[in-house]
Amino acid sequence: MRAIVYEQTRRVGVHDVEDAVLEDPTDVVVRVTSSAICGTDLHMYDGRTGAEPGLVIGHEPLGVVEQVGDGVSLVEVGNRVVIPTHLYCGVCFNCVRGYTAACLRVRPGSFGAAYGYAGMGAYRGAQAQLLRVPFADANCVRVPGEPFDDREDDFVLLADAFVTGWHATELAMMQPGCTVAIFGAGTVGLLAAYSSLLRGAGEVYVVDYIPERLDKAGELGATPIDFTDADPVEQIKEHRRRAGLPIGEEQMDGVQKGIDAVGFQARDRHDPARENPTQVISDLARLVNPTGHVAIAGVYVERDLHPAPEGSADGHLQVPWATLFNKGVSVNFGRTHDRRYTTRLRDLVVAGRAHPGAIVSHHGALDDAPGFYDRFDQRADGVIKAILRPNR
Ligand SMILES: NC(=O)c1ccc[n+]([C@@H]2O[C@H](COP(=O)([O-])OP(=O)(O)OC[C@H]3O[C@@H](n4cnc5c(N)ncnc54)[C@H](O)[C@@H]3O)[C@@H](O)[C@H]2O)c1
Ligand SMILES: [Zn+2]
Ligand SMILES: [Zn+2]
Repeated sequence: MRAIVYEQTRRVGVHDVEDAVLEDPTDVVVRVTSSAICGTDLHMYDGRTGAEPGLVIGHEPLGVVEQVGDGVSLVEVGNRVVIPTHLYCGVCFNCVRGYTAACLRVRPGSFGAAYGYAGMGAYRGAQAQLLRVPFADANCVRVPGEPFDDREDDFVLLADAFVTGWHATELAMMQPGCTVAIFGAGTVGLLAAYSSLLRGAGEVYVVDYIPERLDKAGELGATPIDFTDADPVEQIKEHRRRAGLPIGEEQMDGVQKGIDAVGFQARDRHDPARENPTQVISDLARLVNPTGHVAIAGVYVERDLHPAPEGSADGHLQVPWATLFNKGVSVNFGRTHDRRYTTRLRDLVVAGRAHPGAIVSHHGALDDAPGFYDRFDQRADGVIKAILRPNR
């Protein structure tokens, strides 16, 4: 089969590799119709995570089941399925409590796993023609319709981006009427904004500096904030004050919910050419109101091969702990427990109430992947979300 393989820092290639096959009775093999490229792949692409050359990458697949192991009872050949990024067993102590990204059985000696990701278990990636899916009864989520119908993009985003945007709003303990600020207008930030609006947020601000991404935030119904215009914290407070703060809440001119959809490769506000991994948490600590909540959905790594000056090789970062403590702000972290949300968000799509595919900017074949990676890494040419179609 053909697959996208990590070759070296800032270089991926299209390679012929061994076909994905059934290895355990509880596996299925899926023929991938769509496979998205994610900001998470860029942490590897940028040479930060120690990915080994030869790794098949990708963790956001939609496809059709082609082979079924003897021990699988809920999935059949021909089923159209989306596969959550973080694979899980479904029955361990953490899985049964809904913490599927911390499954205790998919990565022996540790917890949680993902397809095609350095340090997240020996599972080959999904930017390939075929994908082996372990514990298939748990990991295959059926979706209706036919491959390449008008919901193909909506469904592929259920693998990671939409559920992660939604998870961020859960971590932020979103309530109707809330004020929300989201840092990062990549797919995760945009779909966190979209999820916030679906959940009835009153005001949603999205901070970034890439024009096409800020425009997309505006199209979705959020207020875009360009951090290169001025301090984004002051811009948002000024916006709120101008609109008129509710009576009795004049001192609460920040926001109630803050979301980090950027992670450890955040850009420095004063010099976006360089990274500053504490930029976003510092801004959020200033912006979030007393009693508010911060959700950290952006990735932070325990092993960074080339840390920025404010960063560290083992992820020990200096954050404004005292400000957060004094304000009584709760900070919630983490990988998405995908499976909590996949079916409900699928049903929102099926009901015509959600259309996350609106943020997809590019489609291509596997051969287009090296170019997409390059332009996505530069955040250039309006590449927000590129979807590969490996079998077309
Ligand atoms: N928690 C999870 O399970 C999970 C799942 C998927 C992705 N992620 C992570 O979420 C993050 C975002 O993913 P994505 O696909 O949207 O990536 P992306 O790289 O497309 O988007 C990140 C955006 O952040 C912007 N940005 C950089 N510095 C900023 C700053 N100081 N303030 C505001 N915006 C800034 C960039 O310009 C970019 O548009 C990544 O770290 C990714 O690894 C986490
Ligand atoms: Zn992803
Ligand atoms: Zn488990």
